[in-house]
Amino acid sequence: MEQSGYAQSLSRHYGRKGLGLAIVEGLRAAGKDRSAIQRDDLAPIDHFHIRGKEATLELARLAGLRRGIKVLDVGGGLGGPARTLAGEIGCQVTVLDLTEEYCRVGEDLTRRTGLGDRVVFCHGSALEMPFPDQTFDAVWTEHSSMNIEQKERLYDEIRRVLRAGGRLAMYEIMGGPNAPIHFPVPWARDAASSFLRPPQAIRALLSGKHFEEVAWVDVSTPALEWFRKRVAAARAAVAPPPLGLHLLLGEDFAPMFRNQVRNLEEGRIAVIMGVWDRPSHPSTSSVPSRVRRPADPRPRPSSDGPAGSPPSS
Ligand SMILES: C[S@@+](CC[C@H](N)C(=O)[O-])C[C@H]1O[C@@H](n2cnc3c(N)ncnc32)[C@H](O)[C@@H]1O
Repeated sequence: MEQSGYAQSLSRHYGRKGLGLAIVEGLRAAGKDRSAIQRDDLAPIDHFHIRGKEATLELARLAGLRRGIKVLDVGGGLGGPARTLAGEIGCQVTVLDLTEEYCRVGEDLTRRTGLGDRVVFCHGSALEMPFPDQTFDAVWTEHSSMNIEQKERLYDEIRRVLRAGGRLAMYEIMGGPNAPIHFPVPWARDAASSFLRPPQAIRALLSGKHFEEVAWVDVSTPALEWFRKRVAAARAAVAPPPLGLHLLLGEDFAPMFRNQVRNLEEGRIAVIMGVWDRPSHPSTSSVPSRVRRPADPRPRPSSDGPAGSPPSS
């Protein structure tokens, strides 16, 4: 695939030469059996978003994802969320990502964890998805829209590849009331590749594109708690752990995390989980809307998750 300037700058930010080897070496140093890698062995590195696997499972419950459905993970990175959806729920997941190295390493980790039949990787752009219309029951995005300026086109593409009656599950960092943000942050070293819009703008954009809201939860408070704990642990540690996001982010890792504490404390960013339906008909959804307002700090367990008709296979 030919690399556009945008793809190149993204690769410069996310790409790491020798990442696969560094992960295998980290597993060895952590005392894990490299010949039989378990999914959770990789959790410190392959969930590249706030609150890791816990947040992935929370969003899956909120979205009511079910066994056997076809899910597209847009900007799915190394595939930790995809392997979780496949391994714990039984979804068939396609990861689409513009960082070639993540796709290559992600594919290898998927094979080593025995999930090659349920998770596939596709190197490509969220703005030009290489899939026919209405291919997927659900589209999933976790912390991947921050790098994308053309959000209209992103959500047009998501809508196009989602089947009628299908579901969008998103967990994204958005703009707070007090922009600009402090850089560097985990998705960008400067403003040239960071494109945050406020939650109300994204909500209006999705409604305008005829998505129907099922849930909208502001999870900024648990995000801030998580970053505070991580920063405190990093300060107390003599050396970084063998496996962690520092392997992906390099030396900027510590200032990036400290900046996220500041960005959240100062209301410069907001962290949102949202679930939206592409109704079968523009004016009627198959799922009743159960909207929780931003004051509600985090989604409650699955008993309170969205009822109705999640996408079926
Ligand atoms: C912070 S990482 C999150 C990875 C993954 N979603 C996770 O939670 O572990 C952001 C990912 O979005 C991908 N990305 C950013 N812009 C993209 C685009 N236009 N098309 C496809 N992937 C993109 C990056 O390559 C990167 O892997």
